[in-house]
Amino acid sequence: MEILDGKKISNDIKQEIAEEVAKMKDRGEKVPHLAAVLVGNDGASLTYVGSKVRTCKKIGFESTLIHLPEDTSEEKLLAQVEALNANPEIDGYIVQLPLPKHINEQKVLLAVDPSKDVDGFHPENFGKMALDMVSFIPATPYGIMELLRRYDVDTTGKHTVVIGRSHIVGRPISILMSQKGKAADATVTLTHSRTQNLKEFTKNADIIVSALGVPDFLKADMVKEGVVIIDVGITRVPDSSEKGYYITGDVDFDEVAPKASHITPVPGGVGPMTIAMLLKNTLLARKRQN
Ligand code: GUN
Repeated sequence: MEILDGKKISNDIKQEIAEEVAKMKDRGEKVPHLAAVLVGNDGASLTYVGSKVRTCKKIGFESTLIHLPEDTSEEKLLAQVEALNANPEIDGYIVQLPLPKHINEQKVLLAVDPSKDVDGFHPENFGKMALDMVSFIPATPYGIMELLRRYDVDTTGKHTVVIGRSHIVGRPISILMSQKGKAADATVTLTHSRTQNLKEFTKNADIIVSALGVPDFLKADMVKEGVVIIDVGITRVPDSSEKGYYITGDVDFDEVAPKASHITPVPGGVGPMTIAMLLKNTLLARKRQN
């Protein structure tokens, strides 16, 4: 069994980006500038956005955090998005999801300039991705693909079962892994909450990508020997520690790992890859602005 070490690979990628940024600086060029818009005080979102901004600093990017109160109106958020679109200093930006209930998420995502949409959530980018055209690929699926590529995991013709059909992970990874190329060329089944007999699918899967958000959902009796496990779940489970919670994935790691040929841990698997690929997209955005 081999651990797919997202922490290590994400550090390699960040190092590669940092070296490229240093060269840009040496040539007197503008360095990439990422902005993040956060509305409200959701604990997990605060952690993610804080980490994204901190990592920018570490690798030599400029970064801007725009933290708006929970009761920010949709109109005000849209005005902020327009300001970011018009600001030539900003190469790419994200609007952290989920947004508060009173804001129409689709309306906001549609307002983002596709050339600055480093999340790859705008329909122009998502459509281009689905059609094998150059676009921004959403960071989490992009991170999964990169992890599979760098560990040389054989995906060609393999039965890949994706659990979860979210716009951020399940849907895009099912498209990407069915495309031609490295870490792709797979035979993909997209399963979700209405799937009947899920176990029949997972038991026959060569590769499982779980993006469900239910702790310890995937058990040993649901997988076959030699399976490749990509655990995208990041759930905060309350406990008596100082933090008040611990982080766990969708996969019962202790049970499933002995049967797996490759497995991502949580934390330290897909999570750190997401941030690295967001930075990669921001670097691409900077280059494409030229
Ligand atoms: N919420 C959970 N994941 C993501 C992400 O990748 N980007 C944004 N903007 N919000 C998220």
